[in-house]
Amino acid sequence: MKDFTYYAPTEVIFGPDTESRVGELVKKWGGTRVLLVYGGGSCIRSGLYDRVASSLGEAGIPFTALGGVVPNPRLSLVRDGIRTAHDEGIDFVLAVGGGSVIDSAKAIAAGVEYDGDVWDFFLRKTAPMKALPVGAVLTIPAAGSEMSDGCVITREDECGDEKKSFSTNICRPRFAVMNPELTYTLPAYQTSCGVVDIMMHTLERYFTRGGDMYLTDALADALLRTVMTCGEKVLKAPEDYSLRASIMWGSSLAHNDLTGLRGQGDWAVHGLEHEASGLFDVAHGAGLAAIWGAWANYVVEEAPERFARLAVNLFDIPAVMSTREETLATARAGIEAMRDYFRSIGMPVNLTELIGRRPTEEEIDHMAAMATKNGTATLGSLRKLGLEDVKHIYNAAV
Ligand code: NZQ
Ligand code: ZN
Repeated sequence: MKDFTYYAPTEVIFGPDTESRVGELVKKWGGTRVLLVYGGGSCIRSGLYDRVASSLGEAGIPFTALGGVVPNPRLSLVRDGIRTAHDEGIDFVLAVGGGSVIDSAKAIAAGVEYDGDVWDFFLRKTAPMKALPVGAVLTIPAAGSEMSDGCVITREDECGDEKKSFSTNICRPRFAVMNPELTYTLPAYQTSCGVVDIMMHTLERYFTRGGDMYLTDALADALLRTVMTCGEKVLKAPEDYSLRASIMWGSSLAHNDLTGLRGQGDWAVHGLEHEASGLFDVAHGAGLAAIWGAWANYVVEEAPERFARLAVNLFDIPAVMSTREETLATARAGIEAMRDYFRSIGMPVNLTELIGRRPTEEEIDHMAAMATKNGTATLGSLRKLGLEDVKHIYNAAV
């Protein structure tokens, strides 16, 4: 096993009615005046917003609400949040929602403590040195932002929106409240998008080179199998607590580096997808499902044994791997089985299905240029993908 540092400081409070403890938790982590960030209203319709407000009230903590975060969250709202936080003397940012809301909260928390423009972090001009503490009440298991160091925001632009990220330990939520019952109201499509994103966070770490990785591989296998099985079943039983609970915990474990101790991972599929969701404003998980197969077929020859291992462990495909050709055939059967799985949970397996029409050549060129910084940067580690590779993958994903 390679050397590593593992850091997952988020306090997890898991179970029914845990949202009633939010006030106590904010207090424990030093908050005295809260910015409560939420999305388009699902938490109001479900009554969660009122329960969180009561909990803060009972703890004697005043709050200012900032709603309206949209999926693929926008920089303009982050800037609004930073202004409000300054004006109101906010010292704690509470996210009630999914990855989009939590990422907005993280960006606000870091932006408040920075003299320049918050977009500087996303342009990697500088890294956040300080941030207000963030807490999360998770309502959709998917992005894993409740325990991750990541933050992904979209900057609106007339010439095409730009989706970028930064990573920093100082924005990791201090606590994450996870009540699986809060996810009963999720539409089937969002549930499946979440399942795919959880799988991808595991797979991006799985496809990497080097070192023995027995334990992390075993954890990845278990996580993938469990989330895939529960994901299929929950579409027929949306109010099954155990299924929702396994998916919810899977969301955090897939992205808190538990299955990724062995290094940086590949992350090309995420890089390719962020351009698609930036341009077409589609759900991140659906975008990943649409691109993964084309990426996998393009890079499979770099690590046929890893793909074949996955085929055997996830899809019970016979372990025929005596020669390289046999291993490749097993690997390719696994890639097809993965696509079948995505179809079975209602996910697109190409860009045309994703956006409801064939993407144009210009759109593909635009995404490829953005993903590779006009050909000056590469994506991925299994195989380093330059501009032409990326174009090839997008075209194969049409
Ligand atoms: O806005 P509301 O009304 O709440 O509706 C949301 C939204 O429309 C809805 N929803 C959430 N909880 C619900 C619910 N509807 C009914 N009942 C509930 N309990 O679901 C929709 C999607 O929400 P969103 O937060 O956008 O989903 P997700 O958690 O998948 O987050 C996606 C964002 O996270 C980023 C993605 O790029 C994307 O911008 N990511 C963040 C990462 C990180 N910070 O570490 C890593 C990921 O790879 C990802 O890139
Ligand atoms: Zn993701």
